[in-house]
Amino acid sequence: MRTLITGGAGYIGAHIVRLLRERGDDVVIVDDLATGSRSRVADVPVHVLDLTADGAVDSLVTVMREHRVEAVVHLAARKRVDESVRRPAWYFAQNIGGLAAVLEAMQQAGVGKLLFSSSAAVYGATEGDAIGEDSETSPINPYGETKLVGEHLVTAAAAAFELRAVSLRYFNVAGTGWPELRDHAALNLIPMVFERLEAGLPPQIFGTDYPTTDGTCVRDYVHVLDVADAHLVALDSLGAQERGHEIYNIGTGHGTSVREIVQLICDVAGYSGPVLECPRREGDPASVVASAQLIGSRLGWHGRHDIREMVESAWNAQHSAP
Ligand code: WQD
Repeated sequence: MRTLITGGAGYIGAHIVRLLRERGDDVVIVDDLATGSRSRVADVPVHVLDLTADGAVDSLVTVMREHRVEAVVHLAARKRVDESVRRPAWYFAQNIGGLAAVLEAMQQAGVGKLLFSSSAAVYGATEGDAIGEDSETSPINPYGETKLVGEHLVTAAAAAFELRAVSLRYFNVAGTGWPELRDHAALNLIPMVFERLEAGLPPQIFGTDYPTTDGTCVRDYVHVLDVADAHLVALDSLGAQERGHEIYNIGTGHGTSVREIVQLICDVAGYSGPVLECPRREGDPASVVASAQLIGSRLGWHGRHDIREMVESAWNAQHSAP
C-alpha cells in the first residue's frame, strides 16, 4: 500500500515508516521537522511542510496525487502537555488546524483511508485499571482536548465523504526499536530519569501518597515497536472496514508504577544512589491502564514487549547511537 505519513520523521512515525518499508510498502513523509529529523528516515522522500501554513491543502493534494497515495497516517501534532496549558489557542490551531488540512486534502484527492494518532490523554481524569474505549472522556489539559476534538472531526469527515478511519489512543509509549530512531526529547518518565542520571542527579518520583499498591502513579507502558505494529495491523484492516470511524486503545492492559520503573532503570543503569521522593505533579491521575481487549478481539493485535525490554532498549539506544 502507498502511504503518506505526516510526522513520519518523528520518534513514533519513524518506527512506523521502518516497518512499512521492511515489508515493501511505498511511503512518503510530510513533516515540518520542528521535532522530527530526516536522519531517522534517510531512504524515504520527505516533503517539509507546515500543515497550518497558507497553501498547505494544495501542497498536500499535490503530494497525494504525485505519489498515488492510498492511505494517510496522521501523526503530526504538538504533544507537550505543559506547553498546551500555557498556549491552548496555539495547540488548537496546530493540532486541529493541521488535521483539518489533511482531511480537506484527502477529500479533494479522493484518498479514503486514514489512521489518526490519538491519545490516552482523552480520558483525562478517568482513572482505573481497565479503561475501555467507551469510558468517559474528560481531558484535563488542552493537549488532550485537541485529541478528543480531533476524533470528533474524523467522525464528521467519515460522514461527509467515502472515508474509512481508525483512531489509535496511545497510552505511555516507551522503548526503541533501532538506536537511530530513539526519542530525543526528555518529555516522559523514562527519558527524564535517564537525563538526570546522565547529569549525575538522583531520579525523582513525583508523589508517593497515591491510592496505588506502592503509593506512586501507575501507567500502561507500551513498546514503540508494538505501537508501530498496531498501525500496520490497523492500516490493513481499513480495506475490509465499512465506511466510518473506529477507535482503539493502544496499551497492554498491564500497569507499572513509577517506583517500579525507576527501580528498573537504576538496575539497568547500574545506579545504586538515592531516589528523591518529591511532591505530586499537578494533574497526574493515580492510575491510567488500558483495556486493550477491543483491538485484540477485532484486529488480533496485542503488545508483545515487556517493560524491561522497553527500559533496556531505550537505555542501550541512548548509549550507542551517535
Ligand atoms: C508518568 C508518571 C509523573 C517524570 C504523558 C502525556 C501524554 C501521553 C502519555 C501522548 C507521572 C511521573 C515523571 C519524573 C516522575 N502521550 N514522573 N518523575 O503524564 O502519564 O502522560 O504521556 O499522547 O503525552 O500525558 O507520562 O511520563 O510524563 O509521567 O515521577 O522524572 O511519571 O508524575 O505520574 P503521563 P509522564
